[in-house]
Amino acid sequence: MAAVSIAPTDRVFVLTGAGISAESGLPTFRASDGLWAGYRIEDVCTPEALRSNPADVWAFYSARRENAFAAKPNPGHIALAELERKLGGRYFLCTQNVDDLHERAGSERLLHMHGELSKSRCSQQCGAPPVEDRRIYKSLEEVGRCVCGARLRPHIVFFGEIPLEMPRIERELMKSTVMIVIGTSGSVYPAAGFAQQARYAGGRTIYIGPEPPLNASVFTQSVTGNAAEVLPDLFAVQS
Ligand code: APR
Repeated sequence: MAAVSIAPTDRVFVLTGAGISAESGLPTFRASDGLWAGYRIEDVCTPEALRSNPADVWAFYSARRENAFAAKPNPGHIALAELERKLGGRYFLCTQNVDDLHERAGSERLLHMHGELSKSRCSQQCGAPPVEDRRIYKSLEEVGRCVCGARLRPHIVFFGEIPLEMPRIERELMKSTVMIVIGTSGSVYPAAGFAQQARYAGGRTIYIGPEPPLNASVFTQSVTGNAAEVLPDLFAVQS
């Protein structure tokens, strides 16, 4: 397998998607047996669904909390945490995943652009910050309240909403010289456009996953395989 060589002057931007958590037992979205095969996005993952049917939205995210909190980081998550330890400030991880497996593997310099399952926030956007909330709700009546009195909603970016901390992501993207994309189908923007931006800016772009993503043509290198198998031996960090 071709190693990905990281020079002392390189700055690495990693983007992960559902594929990195697949070997921890969490389903991806767009596989034939994936999450979106069993649910309609518009029923559980849109602002309209939250307004018209909050019980279904919360049932969906409570089930996802239950699965994600029971899962364990796999060697792919651990390999990325080790890469961060070697690179320090020259490393940045942007994940589309809402599970906390990267953190539990030891990653610290990371940003959840699509939100986090372990948090909730005000459904009326009163301005209160997200709160830690790992509860598995059995009914809508159990769902907690914001300090303003409104019902909490999952701290998840729904379809049609703007991902979190985009200015910080842009800054990190522009500083990077190596972009490593792992386990994402390249179907959801803006994340699907990051590799192209990095490539235009002159960086190396590497994709890791079992099949080519939709945006395969923007990558300068592809490594075919499952993240948990490929990542532990992939990086050659030069000192
Ligand atoms: N290792 C690496 N990649 C894998 C593995 C694995 N073991 N198993 C599957 N994959 C790859 C698939 O080949 C696919 O390209 O993971 C990708 C998963 O794609 P999607 O299901 O589309 O998930 P993702 O790209 O993360 O979705 C993006 O869509 O529904 C929204 O907000 C949700 O963050 C999510 C966004």
